[in-house]
Amino acid sequence: MTYKSKSSRISGFYKMTLEERVSVLTERAELTPEEVGLLRSGGGLGLEAANRMIENVLGTMAYPFGVAVNFRINGRDYIVPMAIEEPSVVAAASNMARLMREGEGIRTSSTDPVMIGQIQVLDVPDMEKAISSIEDAKGSLIEGANKLDPVLVRFGGGAKDIEIRSIETETGIMLIIHLLVDCRDAMGANAVNTMCEALAPRIEELTGGRVLLRIISNLADRRLVHVEAIVKKDDIGGEDAVDAIIDAWAFADADPYRASTHNKGIMNGTIAVALAAAQDHRALEAGAHAYAARTGHYRSLSRWYKNGEGDLVGVLEMPMAVGIVGGATKTHPMARLALKIMGINTAKELGEIMAAVGLAQNLGALRALTQEGIQRGHMRLHARNLVVMAGAEGEQIEKAVEALIQTGAIRFDKAQEIVHSIKDKPK
Ligand code: MEV
Repeated sequence: MTYKSKSSRISGFYKMTLEERVSVLTERAELTPEEVGLLRSGGGLGLEAANRMIENVLGTMAYPFGVAVNFRINGRDYIVPMAIEEPSVVAAASNMARLMREGEGIRTSSTDPVMIGQIQVLDVPDMEKAISSIEDAKGSLIEGANKLDPVLVRFGGGAKDIEIRSIETETGIMLIIHLLVDCRDAMGANAVNTMCEALAPRIEELTGGRVLLRIISNLADRRLVHVEAIVKKDDIGGEDAVDAIIDAWAFADADPYRASTHNKGIMNGTIAVALAAAQDHRALEAGAHAYAARTGHYRSLSRWYKNGEGDLVGVLEMPMAVGIVGGATKTHPMARLALKIMGINTAKELGEIMAAVGLAQNLGALRALTQEGIQRGHMRLHARNLVVMAGAEGEQIEKAVEALIQTGAIRFDKAQEIVHSIKDKPK
């Protein structure tokens, strides 16, 4: 059995010690001793590598790197690495993935990985003539762009089309040219920016105008991921619980103040996977929020409704500009390990997993908010941190957590009192 066909359903994973978890994962993802060493290295990025990555380096900064279990996507099981500083997120993703596992589990699909490069043309003397000149030269412009990246073209990608429009702005009418580039397994910023810069002089000749910006757009609305999952009503608390989640979603869809927080919950999942895989998470955030406002009204990225059986259905569609070739994904050893743990070979698969985790995360938040509220889970983790800081070890930890929660005052002094009394108790 290859590890790709092993189940990701690992019950009680969160209760294991860190060492036990590493050993389960070593077996599950066939980690080498070097990769296990990397997990123990506290961040995995050496100073030399960091120094080559950005400027003015002084050191590195680590985040907790965990895995969400239980994910089943398009009939295949995935263990999903997440890097995040916020408690509850990894637990919620794993719990909701468990509820979404039935049948094929979460279902996903994607468009081709097409990114948009923008070329801004100013001072165009005759807009109509400029547009028709570009239309006529489309084929040769695309060919010129593709000469710059024969490797991308060989893999089936490259510049595919050009779109033209004029826009009214504060400083006058501008001609905006979109170069549509299929980026295959790359995020694409380098390829797209190079093409746009190279085409600029030809665009000036054709339009008689002056090119200013030549840059990728982060509103990657030609590179979308679609995710869908069903949760049986009884698994989420029955009919009333389903209705409450739909009401909570409707609030977000209608009100930008709520939509912003609702979408933040989705990005808790998506970005944690993005960070683990060293993706450009700023690009992903920018794209997601711009897409959420595409109707002119900032709305929920997800949709929740009831099917004929009264079960809860969740749908999420969002731009997903991710890559697994080039960039930090190639140079960061933890990112390479993250891809290995997921057992994936394409950017498409990575993007679909990221969106699936976003949808699971969204459900986790909506379930907590419509039932016990969000603080209970947070408080349990907070209590756990406090008792560990106060010196609790092994089996003492859960005992001390329960006792601390019972006091209703989750504070360090209380944690110390409880841990001391547990430790002092004769065995
Ligand atoms: C907290 O990081 C995320 C939530 O606020 C999301 C939401 O409100 O839907 C819980």
